[in-house]
Amino acid sequence: MTSVPEPLLPGSMIGLLGGGQLAQMLVLAGHAMGFRFIVLDPAPNCPAALAGATQITAAYDDFAVLAELADACDVVSYEFENVNADAVAWLEERVDLPQGSQLLRISQNRLREKTFLQKLAVPVAPFQKIITEKDVTVAFEELGELMLKTVTGGYDGRGQARISSTAQIPEAFSALSQAKTEIVAEQFVPFEREISVIVARNRMGEIRCFTPAENLHKKNILTISRIPARLVPEVSEQAQTVAKKIAEGLELVGVLGVEMFVLPDGKLLVNEIAPRPHNSGHFTQNACVSSQFEQHLRAITNLALGSTELYKPALMLNILGEHLPLLLEKLKDLPPEAKLHLYGKQDCRSGRKMGHLNLTSDSLESLLEPLQKLGVWDADLLNKML
Ligand SMILES: Nc1ncnc2c1ncn2[C@@H]1O[C@H](COP(=O)(O)OP(=O)(O)OP(=O)(O)O)[C@@H](O)[C@H]1O
Ligand SMILES: [Mg+2]
Repeated sequence: MTSVPEPLLPGSMIGLLGGGQLAQMLVLAGHAMGFRFIVLDPAPNCPAALAGATQITAAYDDFAVLAELADACDVVSYEFENVNADAVAWLEERVDLPQGSQLLRISQNRLREKTFLQKLAVPVAPFQKIITEKDVTVAFEELGELMLKTVTGGYDGRGQARISSTAQIPEAFSALSQAKTEIVAEQFVPFEREISVIVARNRMGEIRCFTPAENLHKKNILTISRIPARLVPEVSEQAQTVAKKIAEGLELVGVLGVEMFVLPDGKLLVNEIAPRPHNSGHFTQNACVSSQFEQHLRAITNLALGSTELYKPALMLNILGEHLPLLLEKLKDLPPEAKLHLYGKQDCRSGRKMGHLNLTSDSLESLLEPLQKLGVWDADLLNKML
């Protein structure tokens, strides 16, 4: 019989690798639970530090600093996939690191990730490993329209190119080759919608899912999530079953975002997994009994998982750099259902995630008019989701 691990008590110190907005929201949720935080981030005044975490400003693979972090913390977590997995493996030998380096090695490499999912019998889009430009031509002949992706390092659609005709191959291949990582060609999926499920598991093997979110991307960056996703009950159930299967297969400890494509016939293909809180799970802050951030902290501190019950349907709108100036002018016009979350980032660039707006309502459709009047988000995108 495996022993039940002791929960970490309030006052315990949690270390975070990465101090961006996900770390910031972990810190905000964790302070309410009585935890303290140290974050490691190379950029000074990172969002997590703004929320009151102690920051160590250093590189993720500075081993002297990692040793210091291991000594100071009761548990360490990471908030994004692109931290050095060797550094995490080194740290894991010295401090409790429940997510583990194995999960990181899988989720930071698209080829390993897809191979792992296939082993679990989780359907993914057909894919091929690409080494030469000729391989892309062969993949195009066999799979049809493609999404070419760098195997490591991509996020928010970076390191991706869509191939709809052979004429596009040379330029796309040469652009992605710049990144000096392997490349994978995926079949372009004619999905009906994109959804995601945030699943949590703790060391006791308890697993809970949040209600599936439906996600709309613009230029490959998440713009809007609506919860619940517009799915028939069987597909919604199936999505949660798949997420739980992945969580079990990974022996996950923490939360994991599972991104999926829904085909017109209701079939699901997993696009990718993210071993941490996920942008499409931000609605949980205002629409659920427990937020995904609290849930992650519960999981890594050996607490029982919280209820994932959805109080009300929700809409989450990302505030990107291009949205922020107008939004700030319109603050007084926000509908009363709106809960504003801003990350305090200084450098406001187009496409950069500056904050998000959560809205809850029994009738999401009733939010269309006030949001269109606000004029911050693209009317077409709002129309598609409401
Ligand atoms: N094979 C595909 N077929 C159709 N659309 C795709 C495919 N792969 C990716 N996309 C589109 O591009 C978006 C971003 O892709 P993906 O999630 O793989 O990249 P990412 O850079 O890791 O993004 P993020 O970190 O924001 O999730 C997807 O959400 C989807 O809209
Ligand atoms: Mg994605």
